[in-house]
Amino acid sequence: MRNVAVIGVGMTKFGELWDYSLRQIFTMAAIEALEDAGCSNRDIEAFYVGNMSAGLFIGQEHLGALLADNAGLKNIPAMRVEGACASGGLALREAYLTIKAGEYDLVMVGGIEKMSDSPCTEDVTTTLGAAADQEWETFVGLTFPGAYALIAKAHMERYGTTKEQLAMVAVKNHKNGKNNPKAQFRREITIEQVLASGIVADPLSLLDCSPISDGGAAVILASEDMAKKFSDTPVWILGSGQASDTLALHDREDLTSLKATRLAAEKAYTAANMGPKDVNFAEVHDCFTIAEIVATEDLGFFHPGGGGKAVEEGLTEVDGKIPINPSGGLKAKGHPVGATGVAQVVSVVEQLRGEAHKRQVNRAETALTHNVGGSGATAVVHIFSR
Ligand code: COA
Repeated sequence: MRNVAVIGVGMTKFGELWDYSLRQIFTMAAIEALEDAGCSNRDIEAFYVGNMSAGLFIGQEHLGALLADNAGLKNIPAMRVEGACASGGLALREAYLTIKAGEYDLVMVGGIEKMSDSPCTEDVTTTLGAAADQEWETFVGLTFPGAYALIAKAHMERYGTTKEQLAMVAVKNHKNGKNNPKAQFRREITIEQVLASGIVADPLSLLDCSPISDGGAAVILASEDMAKKFSDTPVWILGSGQASDTLALHDREDLTSLKATRLAAEKAYTAANMGPKDVNFAEVHDCFTIAEIVATEDLGFFHPGGGGKAVEEGLTEVDGKIPINPSGGLKAKGHPVGATGVAQVVSVVEQLRGEAHKRQVNRAETALTHNVGGSGATAVVHIFSR
């Protein structure tokens, strides 16, 4: 099995990108990644793109060929990978496996979503709801904010996690997003503002939620030989793990933890021959504030029930024991769902190269990304090092 590195990264600003179409957004990210890698579009042998639902959001399917063509990746194998909000992370993993197995040497991985062209928030909620269990959840009115609200309630009841602790996740991630020029929200917020921001699904308020976003991201993966040819600063993928679980929450053994995350993390840690203590910082899937708390427990950074206290004690700040989401996370950086898993890799590579400026984590040598689909039916974890 061969070693695989990330040698180029690119992403657009996240937010409401009214002036650009889906293909323009992706092409901007792809060009940035190619330039960063110092290779040409003609060098790329295959293309995988993560996208959750361009079909429902803007009526466009068949994204592999469309986006490859627009990015100048002519006539190569090109395909879309879908796993709800984990689509980007899954695309990365598929590309990684093909290089590891020896099929390709240079592959582009993309992630893209255009959510803000939907006429209203209700339409976005319906489209996102297609990733939940239609018969048992969506049909009876459960939305994703609703699903994560159930997880939050269970966590609060079992561990005493408070609404203030949830709010602290949003406050921290907005503080980090302020230092990220590509983040959707670059303003700080207070605990009081989060608590007063209006209930979306009790106990989650508007500022506990990731926003509706447009955005694209791209990374170039390379085999060891190609990485050495093109890059002085390759970032190695040491481990990759993926797992799935039931779509419907009522079929889960436990609502306070995502089993798919725990299993995916176990595989990634084993492959990297590392444990949670060896990870210097992480970009985790904070689609709602409770999701970050649960993720930090499932990934082994804190004991079950310890995630809320850890935020309160500042352990997850950029200068804390284990910085979580120094990019601003989904909460502040934005969450164009299919792009998120790839954008997390962009953030990690910037950090590991020491190019994250005001949000730079000290002595960042190893990192973890965690990308979740739906309310935890898909999870994918990657571990990186300089
Ligand atoms: N965080 C911070 N600010 C937000 C925000 C968020 N999540 N969502 C909206 N805002 C801001 C807007 O920028 C706007 O500010 P402005 O008045 O200064 O321009 C204001 O709040 C109202 O925005 P609006 O678009 O009217 O909000 P909305 O009520 O239509 O939508 C949510 C708010 C929370 C319902 C929506 O963002 C949402 O559905 N988020 C969850 C997305 C999701 O489920 N993703 C998948 C996860 S699995």
